[in-house]
Amino acid sequence: MGKVTVITSGKGGTGKSTITAGLGAALARRGNRVLLIDCDAGMRGIDLMLGVSGELVFDIADIINGNCPPASAIYPCKTVPELYILPAPQNVRDEISPSVMRQLTKVLVRYYDHILIDSPAGIGIGFRSAAAPASQAILVANTEPLSLRGCDKVRQKLRHCQINDIKLIINRFNERKFRRMGAFPDLDAVIDEAGAMLIGIVPEDNYASAASQKGSPIEGNMKAAYAFDRIAARLDGKSVRLVLD
Ligand SMILES: Nc1ncnc2c1ncn2[C@@H]1O[C@H](COP(=O)(O)OP(=O)(O)OP(=O)(O)O)[C@@H](O)[C@H]1O
Ligand SMILES: [Mg+2]
Repeated sequence: MGKVTVITSGKGGTGKSTITAGLGAALARRGNRVLLIDCDAGMRGIDLMLGVSGELVFDIADIINGNCPPASAIYPCKTVPELYILPAPQNVRDEISPSVMRQLTKVLVRYYDHILIDSPAGIGIGFRSAAAPASQAILVANTEPLSLRGCDKVRQKLRHCQINDIKLIINRFNERKFRRMGAFPDLDAVIDEAGAMLIGIVPEDNYASAASQKGSPIEGNMKAAYAFDRIAARLDGKSVRLVLD
């Protein structure tokens, strides 16, 4: 039985989808069988980031509507063995409800070591559906005060969904920019503001961003890939020292 994790944030554009794809690939490279569920109805992106968008025929709504069996809407990532993608509905009107997401994930979790669910921004119905089946959450924040402001509300909402295991990834970290901005004296202050246990820091990495825009996995000697590998090891229960990745 696998572990189900929702990747979320209050604010949009913090890097949830990039982290879902990058961390999913890193977990698969460690020998896990991994399913990524895109819950961003109408704005799906994981398929594009992992280079399978040209192949999509069915999505999660087709499973629910009985148009296909689950296996037909799950696509293997060609470049990363054991990494699979279940795309979000193309139309926002086909959004899946929290109870249906819970039922579907209950079936799928038997076949994977990890299921990562990419939540849309905000705390609306899309967020609730993404969180409904999860037993843990990863909160993605940047070091800007605006990005951290939503964390409190998201944590409360996650607790309403009975998710108490909430971890934090600080994404797009750039030490020089952080010092220049001066909004927080140090990273400890950022972590305090986010109010969750830090599991990793992903650096600002324009190569990784460019790779995911082109549908290639974040891997090799990209700085972000190194951070994802370390976070994946921690999620797999390994003790990896928390340094600036
Ligand atoms: N560590 C990083 N370094 C550089 N660019 C990054 C990093 N993480 C994400 N990005 C870039 O930031 C932008 C937003 O990322 P992404 O789409 O993953 O955010 P999101 O939180 O999923 O957004 P949304 O709320 O719209 O779903 C993208 O252009 C992505 O390539
Ligand atoms: Mg996204």
